[in-house]
Amino acid sequence: MLFRYLFAAALATPLISACSGPVEDTLPGQPIKHRQEAFKEILRSFEPMGTMLRTNRYEAEPFIEMTTRFMSRRDGPWDHFIDGSFQPPTRAREAVWSQADDFEQARIAFMAASEALYQAAHTQALPDVRNAYADVESTCRSCHEVFRN
Ligand code: HEC
Repeated sequence: MLFRYLFAAALATPLISACSGPVEDTLPGQPIKHRQEAFKEILRSFEPMGTMLRTNRYEAEPFIEMTTRFMSRRDGPWDHFIDGSFQPPTRAREAVWSQADDFEQARIAFMAASEALYQAAHTQALPDVRNAYADVESTCRSCHEVFRN
């Protein structure tokens, strides 16, 4: 009997792993899914600016349009970090909730840096634009270092 059970279990295991796709957000309202999608939107609006700067194709007017789009995305994730949403499939660390004040400071730093990028875009001075873009990037990175896996 035990033998048969083990055989069945061995057969079942690959079936289970073949069926398990990405982990779903099972919470009501799917806050984890919403904040992850909002971050992807931020990334999609942020990357084209970096590409334009890296490839030395800076054009002031299109860049301003890109910053406008980016500014309209930057508020997306934050309201979805609700209590009780530290569970799979989140990549957030527990520190988001246990060090909430530090997380808020990191969010405020990101808000300030993105506002500065928007302002710099309107000056149309490329060195300032470059610095301001790098500053936003470092606020993404420093938050991820502490608060994201
Ligand atoms: C104040 C902290 C903070 C800032 C600032 C921040 N992020 Fe994040 N980011 C997070 C956390 C926390 C997660 C994990 C969310 C989750 O999985 O629940 C995340 C997730 C992501 C993801 C992954 C989404 C997914 O599908 O798993 C991307 C992409 C991302 N951030 C891009 C950015 C970019 C680009 C910036 C800056 C322009 C930025 N983030 C700024 C905290 C931050």
